[in-house]
Amino acid sequence: MSIAPHVHKLKLKLLRKQIDDDLYVEEYLAHGSYGAVFRVSDRYNRRQLVLKVMHKSSRWEEESTLHYFLSKHPNIVTLHENIELGDYAASLLDYCPGGSLHDMIYARAAYAGDSASIRSAFLQIIDAVDHCHTNYVYHRDLKPLNVLCNEDGSKVFLTDFGLATRDDASHEHSHGTVAYMSPGMFGPMKRVEPIVTYYPECYPEKHWCSTKIAPYSPEANDVWSLGVLFLDLACGDRIWESPNAGDERYRKFSEDPSAFLRSEYPLNDHTRLLLLRIFSPERYRISLKALREEIYSIDGFYLSDYEIASSTPQVQKNAVKYGPWTDLADGDYGRLAGVLHECGVENLPSNSDTDSSTDFVDISLTTPQNEPFHFRSDCIKDEEHPTPYITGLYPSIY
Ligand SMILES: Nc1ncnc2c1ncn2[C@@H]1O[C@H](COP(=O)(O)OP(=O)(O)OP(=O)(O)O)[C@@H](O)[C@H]1O
Ligand SMILES: [Mg+2]
Repeated sequence: MSIAPHVHKLKLKLLRKQIDDDLYVEEYLAHGSYGAVFRVSDRYNRRQLVLKVMHKSSRWEEESTLHYFLSKHPNIVTLHENIELGDYAASLLDYCPGGSLHDMIYARAAYAGDSASIRSAFLQIIDAVDHCHTNYVYHRDLKPLNVLCNEDGSKVFLTDFGLATRDDASHEHSHGTVAYMSPGMFGPMKRVEPIVTYYPECYPEKHWCSTKIAPYSPEANDVWSLGVLFLDLACGDRIWESPNAGDERYRKFSEDPSAFLRSEYPLNDHTRLLLLRIFSPERYRISLKALREEIYSIDGFYLSDYEIASSTPQVQKNAVKYGPWTDLADGDYGRLAGVLHECGVENLPSNSDTDSSTDFVDISLTTPQNEPFHFRSDCIKDEEHPTPYITGLYPSIY
């Protein structure tokens, strides 16, 4: 990927240079739309820090002022001080060695299928956002790239206040990251509110809500973004690219939100209903405080193995790709026994025929509701295992 000229210039100016008596620029880390980020060592305090460098501008001043004001919270990246570097200005931040939550999810699958670690990370993000809102600051760019992590992702820190505002009603549409924006922030001309079947009394008939030129609430917009981010965390999937009718997935969601979520993700009813309260029109959207309470009280976010096995192929695919079936596909015998037990089967059923030339069996069962229920299972049959011996279990899509 080619590197932007301003980043190249900044690298030449700063990389492996001494900034003052204590600070030495060790490594280029990343760039955003407006500047570049470097790891620096603070020789006096013997610690690693980060220098986020941008052109001097009113935008930088606003970003760094708001970030500094909020940075005492344990889940917000600490901003120690702001430094002048000729035409540039820089913020000196705590270094987060785990990188972004985006990489934790998509490169390391750090939370896949694990409700406890998802809940812990998500609550930390909610707490950071709540601290902002309590101080009348609204972030407006909540997404996995703007959350940073410790080494193993067990601690997370909100950063990047470049779009933050103190306005409680805003006309600034379409700045920021489209996939995480609420329809209100996306823009009045393209605005399409979802139909929420969860509140049928508010939506007596199915229709697209018409567009209105109206300000949106940055506070409610943050709650919407958290819903999109939750699906990154729990399902390793970006629910849609843009909250408007031109986006096929968003359009399908809008036609029947509950059915869409049920056909896509291995999430249980409690979690699905919570998502519907997040992806609601602004005036019905769940508050941040209520969202925190709900997340705190949900035992687990996923369907049971048995429920996944009787869900759509897409749900099963997502469950294997990132969700709770990752272990199962790796051949976890304890879980396999559990699934079969849930189906009332203690041993392989008689139709699980195999011969020595194949290394899998198809298992067809009937659920207690008399629905067909299929597994394909890796299996060995040899002298040592004269009856088929299961070594891995996969959903029927394979
Ligand atoms: N304190 C930090 N510790 C470790 N990495 C960091 C730190 N701050 C930023 N980064 C890295 O730099 C990337 C960009 O940082 P940030 O989002 O603050 O910049 P930005 O210019 O505002 O980005 P954008 O405009 O693309 O949102 C982060 O996603 C992360 O990979
Ligand atoms: Mg950013």
